[in-house]
Amino acid sequence: MTSLVLTVRETLRYRGAIGQWSWVLHRLTGVGVVLFLALHVIDTSWAVFYPDLYVKAIAAYQSPIFTLGEFGLVFAVVYHAFNGIRIVIFDYKPELWRHQAQAAVAVLALTLLVLAPVFLGMASHVIDFYFTEQAIAGSKVMDVVVFSIIEQLPFIAGFVGVLAAAIVLAALFSLVRGDASQRGKYPQASPVERFWWGFMRLSGILIVPLVFGHLALMHVVQGVFDITAAQEVAGTLATNGTIGVVPSAVEFVFHRWSYAAGGVFVWRVYDLFLLVLVTLHGFNGLRYVLTDYTSFNDFARRTSVALCTVTAAVLLAVGAAALFVPLEKDIINEAMAATAEIYELRGEEVPEALEAFLDGATEGE
Ligand code: HEM
Ligand code: HEM
Repeated sequence: MTSLVLTVRETLRYRGAIGQWSWVLHRLTGVGVVLFLALHVIDTSWAVFYPDLYVKAIAAYQSPIFTLGEFGLVFAVVYHAFNGIRIVIFDYKPELWRHQAQAAVAVLALTLLVLAPVFLGMASHVIDFYFTEQAIAGSKVMDVVVFSIIEQLPFIAGFVGVLAAAIVLAALFSLVRGDASQRGKYPQASPVERFWWGFMRLSGILIVPLVFGHLALMHVVQGVFDITAAQEVAGTLATNGTIGVVPSAVEFVFHRWSYAAGGVFVWRVYDLFLLVLVTLHGFNGLRYVLTDYTSFNDFARRTSVALCTVTAAVLLAVGAAALFVPLEKDIINEAMAATAEIYELRGEEVPEALEAFLDGATEGE
């Protein structure tokens, strides 16, 4: 904690100009995206494991708080990507260092230039959803906001669980290895750390096309609000709502993950690469950040390392499990009751076909 307070104080005091602020922004955007990723991988897995929860998670994404957060998230990814490329270029071409202040300004300018049309595209989806379609009744906005906050509570419980596991692991490790503070203050650069240094650069570059493609699809081509619309599902030949009685977020994922070209499930393979690269890059990055602020205490530092390792392992396991299970069409029917709840929450009329389907399902039981 002391070193975090020190960092904040010294960052504000020290006049390191643009280079220093781009370091702060790179760190903040990296950590912000990692936190989003933890929620996102878990709730994406619900599409196959708990379809009703997935419908609710996407409804939360389509609520006003997340709509604001969505602009922040896209800024964070784009700025971090461009600044990351700058870091990689300067690492391999140290002679360019005298241009580093101009490069930092250029990264910011490029980010704003790229984001201007992207934000316009996203804003048009937002206006359609909130104003043209009036998909959330004015009197229901607060209910939707409260609902989307409550929807995140299980993640706090999950975080406490992972933290407890990290503390136990750190304690066991300390028992076996003893106190590292006895072994000299600064750890030597090990081959493992050199590997991670190279990995951060290589994975960063590989992530650029993957994450930009994913975001373009989910924010511009289709748009977060169209995940539940009766439209063609981006990157497939299918239309949402042709299997279920009404379109749903679960059917959207079903079509994307069942789409095969030349015998290859294109989007499952794509998501697998994205999952592995961003999880390893993001949580190793988070390890750098947390260990920077816990270096004063051996146990706190080990807990930070364990926390990043356990969280990354859980996300890789859960995210990959969702990609590898065979997809059953039943998940779309399971999503229907939750879809009706969302219509009601937003003050929209539940379509007759959906009511009839749900009545039929209750009678059938
Ligand atoms: C609000 C913005 C986003 C939306 C609406 C969104 C939406 C989705 C959807 C619908 C899927 C399901 C599979 C598919 O259709 O391909 C998915 C999967 C995935 N997304 Fe995103 N995404 C967003 C941002 C991001 C970002 C910023 C990252 C990376 C940092 C990311 C990483 C992933 C990964 C790794 C998967 C696969 C998860 C798994 O294996 O279970 N997404 N996303
Ligand atoms: C889009 C392409 C990306 C590029 C080009 C990129 C590049 C980089 C680079 C070069 C570093 C510095 C590594 C070091 O200091 O050794 C870094 C750090 C980091 N990255 Fe990325 N990255 C990208 C995407 C992401 C994503 C999607 C996340 C989150 C899931 C993320 C999270 C982080 C974090 C938390 C750090 C540590 C920041 C720090 O030490 O201050 N990055 N990134």
